Amino acid sequence: MTEAPVPSAHDPLAPPAVDRIGTPGSPGATRVMLLGSGELGKEVTIALQRFGVEVIAVDRYDGAPAHQVAHRSHAIDMTDADEVRRVVDLEKPHVILPEIEAIATSALEEIEQEGLARVVPTARAARLTMDREGIRRLAAEELGLPTSGYAFASSVGELRDACSAIGFPCLVKPTMSSSGKGQSTLHGPEDVEAAWSAAQTGARVAGARVIVESFVDFEYEITLLTVRSVDPETGRILTGFCEPIGHRQERGDYVESWQPQPMTQDAYDSARSVAARITGALGGVGVFGVELFVNGVDVYFSEVSPRPHDTGLVTLRSQVLSEFEMHARAVLGLPVVTTMASPGASAVIYGGAEIGEGSVEAVGFEGVARALAVPEADVRLFGKPSASEYRRMGVAVATAEDVDGARERAREAAARVRVVV
Ligand SMILES: Nc1ncnc2c1ncn2[C@@H]1O[C@H](COP(=O)(O)OP(=O)(O)OP(=O)(O)O)[C@@H](O)[C@H]1O
Ligand SMILES: [Mg+2]
Repeated sequence: MTEAPVPSAHDPLAPPAVDRIGTPGSPGATRVMLLGSGELGKEVTIALQRFGVEVIAVDRYDGAPAHQVAHRSHAIDMTDADEVRRVVDLEKPHVILPEIEAIATSALEEIEQEGLARVVPTARAARLTMDREGIRRLAAEELGLPTSGYAFASSVGELRDACSAIGFPCLVKPTMSSSGKGQSTLHGPEDVEAAWSAAQTGARVAGARVIVESFVDFEYEITLLTVRSVDPETGRILTGFCEPIGHRQERGDYVESWQPQPMTQDAYDSARSVAARITGALGGVGVFGVELFVNGVDVYFSEVSPRPHDTGLVTLRSQVLSEFEMHARAVLGLPVVTTMASPGASAVIYGGAEIGEGSVEAVGFEGVARALAVPEADVRLFGKPSASEYRRMGVAVATAEDVDGARERAREAAARVRVVV
């Protein structure tokens, strides 16, 4: 794959199966650019490096986790279309991996249209999924997938009407935000004003539009990692599903995840059907994290990441190929396997109370040896240049005979790591 990929007959945005990977640092190198270089991008970079791919990592600040393992790195404002275009013209990647949501997707659409690089999974998928309105309308209105009730509002007055139409309790979220930023749960009309203000503060852009969602009283929620990859035999796109990942969220952020989440066969069948339809509509290849709420046999689509998912960090231990290795293979047009190797769990290592509310540079990590003394446990430290109380600084992963045992081990290993000034 030394030139911009040739469209396949089956899917104009699918890559051909790779039969040649170049040598990094040579003119024939296979170049992949990450837009967003956090901890997930770092693992994708390592997976790509193992195939001898030349990786260029881009983020908005220097020294981001993936910068530290890539061939080259850049710090730019990725929401600025001109800056995105400039770095692409400079590096001439064959493939672009948007690793975060806050990107000038108009630049990606142009780059894709001009055939300068292949955007994974597609530039349209990046645009639709960065905006809760885009993905919700696609899922609910075009595909008819079951979702929570929803409405949109662009002012506090509209929000008041939208909330009464949806009913209480409900959630308000900025349409452009991630990691729980700017979200509130509303119990009655008296909460509307505060929810509007919170959304304005937490949104990526000023004057933010919001979505109101009816509160789904789910039994459990899952991430269904879904992989679209090229079948080397036929050149067609195959859709593969991993065992469901259960997770627990706090402050809108995931704190622990486990695989497999027990599900009835009916619920798992519905989940796969929802995931196949939404990923099929987004197109392209790669890993998708399909977020679903489950209540008995009812499965509600919540949202989807067109890239590896944070709750999928558990797959570093629980699967034959981690979600990062699957993503690397799929984007190169190589085959994947979605097989689980063992029940497993992950637990996030935060900056912690000792770091407190401010931002502290160059922290240290103590207790790693004790963490690794937990049976079948492992630790990843992301190398972020600064820490704060709720910043994700690392993750502990563990396997065990069952999910409960794995969760206990991962939590214990994470608790043994202390972030110190
Ligand atoms: N309609 C809803 N009903 C019940 N709970 C919800 C609803 N929407 C969101 N939640 C809860 O809040 C969590 C975060 O919501 P959501 O995934 O929409 O936010 P996000 O900012 O995109 O988070 P992330 O970027 O971490 O995925 C969900 O995983 C779920 O636990
Ligand atoms: Mg989410």
